[in-house]
Amino acid sequence: MNTDPPTAAESEERRRLLARLDEALARVDELVPLDEARFLETHGIYEGRSDQQRRIIEWFGEEIAPALRPDRPFRVLSVGCGSGMLDIPVAKRLASRKADLEYVGVDPNRVECEVLERRFEEASLPGVRVEVVPASFDDFASTRAFDLIHFVHSLYYMPDPSAALEKARKLLAPGGRLVVFHAPREALNDLAVRFYDKEYARPTLFADDFAELLDRWGWDYERGRVDAAVEVTPFVDGDPEIGLALRDFIVQVDSERLPAPVQEIVERYLRLIVVEDRGRNHISHPVDVFFIDG
Ligand SMILES: C[S@@+](CC[C@H](N)C(=O)[O-])C[C@H]1O[C@@H](n2cnc3c(N)ncnc32)[C@H](O)[C@@H]1O
Repeated sequence: MNTDPPTAAESEERRRLLARLDEALARVDELVPLDEARFLETHGIYEGRSDQQRRIIEWFGEEIAPALRPDRPFRVLSVGCGSGMLDIPVAKRLASRKADLEYVGVDPNRVECEVLERRFEEASLPGVRVEVVPASFDDFASTRAFDLIHFVHSLYYMPDPSAALEKARKLLAPGGRLVVFHAPREALNDLAVRFYDKEYARPTLFADDFAELLDRWGWDYERGRVDAAVEVTPFVDGDPEIGLALRDFIVQVDSERLPAPVQEIVERYLRLIVVEDRGRNHISHPVDVFFIDG
């Protein structure tokens, strides 16, 4: 995929569109968030067209699985677990090390929690015990300590991300690890952040802000980058339903209910950041990984 930086003219056009978007969004009273079922649906479509989740799963297999010992159980807490799309393959990688695995997921989206429970049942992984807590992480309580706590693309949504991290660190077992996959603010998120900030009425934390927070706290961490791209050909010239699902997931609101001028700016911006390669159209969406020892 072509990863050349944008030309000066493209950068200028991006800035111009984002400034227009800010003005247009300031006139919108309320955004309509995706309901639980639509979030599940659009997230599945988005991840299905991206190589990012596969790379994140490989990362868990390479970096975490070797730490498991067959003589003691391994406890995992997945914060913002979603539908199990990620957790089942991660649990499979970890379970292959023959340790008993206790896998706890917490997520306020009840529809996703039900799907996760069902998927784990269907996968029937030997030695794996699963518990799903349909709640916000701020309401989550546990007397257990965890060997691994991960937030994969979920910290943005926490009402107080700093409090969530401090809470997670206290839930770590001695020698436990906290893993946060969190996006940098690149071209795609420069668009999405406008919607996130308005919807949640607070600035959204991206990877650099997160690193700054860890530096301020004096926490030791390692930071890496997982490059990825989402294939958006249906958005450009294909199935309009899929195109709409991709757009909804990117801005995380019911985008058809946005005023027409906002929809038009979003469309133009997305087309501007698409990279065309042999008839396929991609948008880059890397993610940073933060690895913190407890
Ligand atoms: C983009 S999804 C990521 C799901 C999963 N980790 C994955 O990578 O497939 C973000 C998830 O965070 C969840 N979430 C939102 N607010 C949350 C909160 N306060 N506590 C825990 N999870 C939350 C959402 O419901 C959603 O399932």
